[in-house]
Amino acid sequence: MSFKELVFSGVQPTGNLHLGNYLGAIKRFVELQNNHDCIYCVVDMHAITVPIAVWGGPEGLTRATREVTAAFIASGIDPKKHIVFNQSQVHEHAELAWVFNCVARIGWLNRMTQFKEKAGKDRENASVGLYAYPNLMAADILVYRATHVPVGEDQKQHLELARDIAQKFNNDFSESIAARGFGDMFFPLPEPIIQGPATRIMSLRDGSKKMSKSEPSDYSRINLTDDADAIAQKIRKAKTDPEPLPSEEKGLEPRPEADNLVGIYAALSDTTKADVLREFGGAQFSNFKSALVDLAVAALGPIGGEMKRLVQDHAYIDAVLADGSQRASAIAGKTMKAVKEIVGFVGR
Ligand code: TRP
Repeated sequence: MSFKELVFSGVQPTGNLHLGNYLGAIKRFVELQNNHDCIYCVVDMHAITVPIAVWGGPEGLTRATREVTAAFIASGIDPKKHIVFNQSQVHEHAELAWVFNCVARIGWLNRMTQFKEKAGKDRENASVGLYAYPNLMAADILVYRATHVPVGEDQKQHLELARDIAQKFNNDFSESIAARGFGDMFFPLPEPIIQGPATRIMSLRDGSKKMSKSEPSDYSRINLTDDADAIAQKIRKAKTDPEPLPSEEKGLEPRPEADNLVGIYAALSDTTKADVLREFGGAQFSNFKSALVDLAVAALGPIGGEMKRLVQDHAYIDAVLADGSQRASAIAGKTMKAVKEIVGFVGR
């Protein structure tokens, strides 16, 4: 059985989108839309798996959902050609997630490193939703029978789990699937797309930590809505070491801060780290940083400006999400109808 190529990905509505979110996800979504059908989802149901103080409560969630949508559009995703929507408006995500709760094994979820990190020491007090998070993520993808999923390194394990769930569903229900004319596989086994020089953008203050919205110092990250002055200041203050830039990539290995800045340059200019070092090998950081400021301001300035304008326009953003949700529902509804038949639920 072969499946039509379809790209699906999700971004959590956490406030304060930064360069890591852009280079690790959104920029790649923009590139993929040129030769694929794409569905991009603001995963608001995943957002509430952590304590309410973390996701910011109702106003925070609403604001962050509109902010991610604005970032998608400002970055160049075309919501007319592709589908942009928020998860909670398409109820089939939750429905399929329940079925997957009954397909996935507790042992599989116990291996998820992200749960262990997010739950921390007090695991008894984590929400059930945080534990079942990867099952909902599998449902997000498979309710569209999507085949390709652009994600960062940190989501690779969740994607493997989605494949395991798809495979177990296909096996457990193989007779029912075949009898109802769906061939030998109902769900595809979705593939991650993890590529490019900057799948992990690190803090500007500490090259061993991921760039994060929860790091106290704002100098650790470049926010998508930072203006040119803020971008310049943060890059000039970014931590480096006293040596000039190496001329080969292996020279970056023991130098996490240099590696990070070179990776950011490469990602923003659509080249490789090797190419960047061919140009800047031997240069002092002050010179390299000036070039990086120019590049970052040129790439991010227009996106930030457009984002700030769009987030004010609630009517437009909400209409984009409503239209996307309607088109997503048309696909998800068909899948869920078939899943109900396959499982044996009585109904229309
Ligand atoms: N878990 C993903 C993240 O934190 C977000 C996400 C939810 C997602 N559902 C998805 C990504 C489906 C890809 C496909 O980055």
